[in-house]
Amino acid sequence: MREVVLAEPGDFAEWRSAARGLLASGVAPEDVSWRGSAEGASLFGDDGTAAPAGAVSLPRELLEIAERVICHRDAGVPARLYRIIWRAARDRHLLARTTDAEVDWLRGADKAIRRDVHKMHAFVRFRRLGEEAGRESFAAWFEPSHRILRLTAPFFQRRFYGMNWAIITPDARAIWQDEKLVYGPGGTKGEVPDSDIVEDQWRAYYGAIFNPARVKIDAMRAEMPKKYWKNLPEAQDIAPLLAGAEARVERMREAAVSLANPLTDKWRTRVPDALTLSDDVKSLDDLARAVDHCTRCPLYCDATQGVVGEGPAAARIMVVGEQPGDQEDLQGRPFVGPAGQVLNEALEEAGLDRTRLFLTNAVKHFKFEPRGKRRLHQNPTAGEIDICRWWLDKERAFVQPDLIVTLGASALRGVTGKSASIKSMRGAVHELEGGSKLIATIHPSFLLRLPDRDRAAEERAMFVADLIRARELAD
Ligand code: URA
Repeated sequence: MREVVLAEPGDFAEWRSAARGLLASGVAPEDVSWRGSAEGASLFGDDGTAAPAGAVSLPRELLEIAERVICHRDAGVPARLYRIIWRAARDRHLLARTTDAEVDWLRGADKAIRRDVHKMHAFVRFRRLGEEAGRESFAAWFEPSHRILRLTAPFFQRRFYGMNWAIITPDARAIWQDEKLVYGPGGTKGEVPDSDIVEDQWRAYYGAIFNPARVKIDAMRAEMPKKYWKNLPEAQDIAPLLAGAEARVERMREAAVSLANPLTDKWRTRVPDALTLSDDVKSLDDLARAVDHCTRCPLYCDATQGVVGEGPAAARIMVVGEQPGDQEDLQGRPFVGPAGQVLNEALEEAGLDRTRLFLTNAVKHFKFEPRGKRRLHQNPTAGEIDICRWWLDKERAFVQPDLIVTLGASALRGVTGKSASIKSMRGAVHELEGGSKLIATIHPSFLLRLPDRDRAAEERAMFVADLIRARELAD
């Protein structure tokens, strides 16, 4: 029997290195005993060997799932995962076997982890600690259901790139300091101050975005389970806000009755927001708050939230897409779904660092058609793009990029205000009013739709070439 001692349960790199060694040595799952060690013992037991060369190849999707599922708190997970990769090394189609009990377990565990990650992205709340060498520093305490800190830290790194922060959980801590991310041991809630100014801002923010017309208490509890409430500054306001919700809806309805041509009830209840949509947007943060209240066109009615641009306010390159898709609408961030993945890969190939770009969309709400349980993307109309340009123009004014890269025809219209074919604009660098330059290219989702492999490879190469030109121009 081979004994593997994992020094840090939940650390994918450690498990993968052990599993690779075992797999390459042909050690069957039933001959391995996995255990975690609080003492940080060596990876292998007495008869352990380092991973031999000639590692077995496994489907990429499985490795991606394994990287998430290893974070599951169930102590049996390292062994179960090893059994699955052992089988997958002999059966390339294992993941497609939907009736297989182990695959079913794997998918369920993966879903639990993804949900936990989603919650952590949404519910971490930072407390301000002070300032060190010109950088503000913050700390947050969070208790995820699983050991997901390593999965979530890169999200906070992108979001809060310009400050120092630490996220402390019972299992581990992530520290982002002077643009370096390091991990350390778990901690206690007492290490993070109880409250501060940021907490008041969260409460004020939550009170401001709280839309009584949208309150569905069961859905809200499902989205913000009670276990998270104790660490959320705004949670103490939920009960009073809910108590006042009915009266607020009534006031909103009364204020709206005299307005002409309301499209739907939802539209009517939101009209007062439209009236307050003013030039009070003085920063990208203001803009992010204001977009979620936008009622300039009816697209907000069915979308979960408005999705604004993301990236450094001083970015030299702004990349403009069409509109948020299904994933973007749920997560509130641009380009995090399948098209985002294509874009990420192309950016990397072109030598562009996504975290240094400002990524946004021509239209800020997801337009879709419900089809069963799915939400099918619909192109925005020229009118919707033109109405939403108000927001894009604000983003352009705040960021003042040297170069704008438009992805697809909607983005091109959003930026130029005119309908032009990508073909007619591609391959040249255009001057925009206000001093920015423009490069027009295709939308990454176009590549996902091409059935012909050769054509897709050709188009992808041209897309990467456009991005390389953008990098060179900005350099
Ligand atoms: N497509 C877009 O145009 N934008 C996104 O944010 C995602 C997909």
